[in-house]
Amino acid sequence: MRMQKFSTKDARTALLRKPRWEDLDGMMELINSLVEEEAPINRTEEVSRTEEMEFLTKRLSSIEKGEIIQFVAEVDGDIAGNAEITKLSGREAHVGRLGIGVKHGYRRIGIATRMIESLLQRAKKHGLKIILLAVYSNNLPAIALYKKLGFREIGRTPKGVCWKGAYIDDIRMALEID
Ligand SMILES: CC(C)(COP(=O)(O)OP(=O)(O)OC[C@H]1O[C@@H](n2cnc3c(N)ncnc32)[C@H](O)[C@@H]1OP(=O)(O)O)[C@@H](O)C(=O)NCCC(=O)NCCS
Repeated sequence: MRMQKFSTKDARTALLRKPRWEDLDGMMELINSLVEEEAPINRTEEVSRTEEMEFLTKRLSSIEKGEIIQFVAEVDGDIAGNAEITKLSGREAHVGRLGIGVKHGYRRIGIATRMIESLLQRAKKHGLKIILLAVYSNNLPAIALYKKLGFREIGRTPKGVCWKGAYIDDIRMALEID
């Protein structure tokens, strides 16, 4: 994808583009900020720079090979958001799994919507037909976002997530993009 420029709802300029090696620190800050605020994601431990270097090395290679479609949103030089679709394989090669995170301070200004819409367009070009995702039942902002984009619940693992000592459901959602 060529770089896309768009205006956020609060009139900032955001760039949507593929991640690159120079994003290492920005991407590490993004994931660690989500861990720090105890966002409803699976990771509970901050990543070290070494771990992030290993992760990004593998990730850039997977993107090059076309196994993962990934965009970052850059605002004022900061990595404000990250979203990816990981392609499944074999008989599930028409299915992709979506993941997304937007940094605190950049939310509710349309970044996730724009990132997902662009990813879905790209996924179609890659021949994907179904996009799946998992979301914790307490993550009302994300559930509202996904529903707005057309995703529907297809099932859940009751008590599939341990959230601060209580068991909550792990919801699965899907969208057909054909
Ligand atoms: C969920 C998340 C990705 C949304 O990102 P965002 O950039 O703020 O989303 P957008 O601005 O594009 O919002 C789109 C729609 O989602 C819904 N939404 C987003 N945040 C919401 C909130 N706090 N409460 C209710 N609805 C919300 C609204 O319908 C919103 O449309 P509107 O602003 O016109 O009402 C972001 O809050 C986030 O990264 N949270 C922490 C990590 C996370 O939960 N990741 C997903 C794991 S499954």
